[in-house]
Amino acid sequence: MSKLPEHIAIIMDGNGRWASARLMPRSYGHSQGVKALDVTLRYAFSLGIRIVSVYAFSTENRSRPRAETERLFALLREYIDEYSDKMQTEKIKLNIMGDISKLPADLQTAVSKALKLTANNTGGIFNIGLNYGGRDEILRAVNKLLAAGNKNINADEFEKELYTAGLPDPDLIIRPGGELRLSNFMLWQAAYSELYFTDVLWPDFDKAELQKALQEYGKRERRFGKVTEKNEK
Ligand code: FPP
Repeated sequence: MSKLPEHIAIIMDGNGRWASARLMPRSYGHSQGVKALDVTLRYAFSLGIRIVSVYAFSTENRSRPRAETERLFALLREYIDEYSDKMQTEKIKLNIMGDISKLPADLQTAVSKALKLTANNTGGIFNIGLNYGGRDEILRAVNKLLAAGNKNINADEFEKELYTAGLPDPDLIIRPGGELRLSNFMLWQAAYSELYFTDVLWPDFDKAELQKALQEYGKRERRFGKVTEKNEK
């Protein structure tokens, strides 16, 4: 593969539609979504991608039916518990974006345990958006800086207050599920990310789909707003 992104971010969309198409409850789509995540995550790290960010639960998802959010929280807890050991073996560090203080206690415990356990790992970073919203993240950072007495805010200081402090911005954002939008995901960090959309629903996403996204990324010329030899006339 010609040019590999250092950081990919994924909006795992389409679980509900995938399940409905099979006359199954939406939660079944989420459990199949966890399987797709496991395959994609391991493949991405095995290729040498250093950071994988995923949108697991948005601030807006809280208004879904209670049974669905409870099932999602249970799946997240199970996966984080199970994956913690693997993360240790593979030297993957967990990072969380979002306000987890409003989530069920058992999920908070699983997250805190995994954060502690993996804190010193340097093999890769698995970054989960959990009760996360890009606008919330920005306001939280601004309010922290205001509370600390800042009158002017520069980008460096601001980025230190984001959930992604110390991480590079995503090079590539992948959205399966057919929708062409960011849905409040990593709004600040997405400024120069390459975007890749596919109609494939998240539970059907696999190694081949990731390869397609990476191939497309390999063809993109990233200019970050500048003039390069190629686009100079
Ligand atoms: C969007 O599909 C997906 C979600 C709201 C949940 C994504 C979460 C997982 C795949 C769980 C695994 C995550 C981790 C980190 C273990 P949707 O329900 O909005 O689908 P629809 O657009 O078809 O309705």
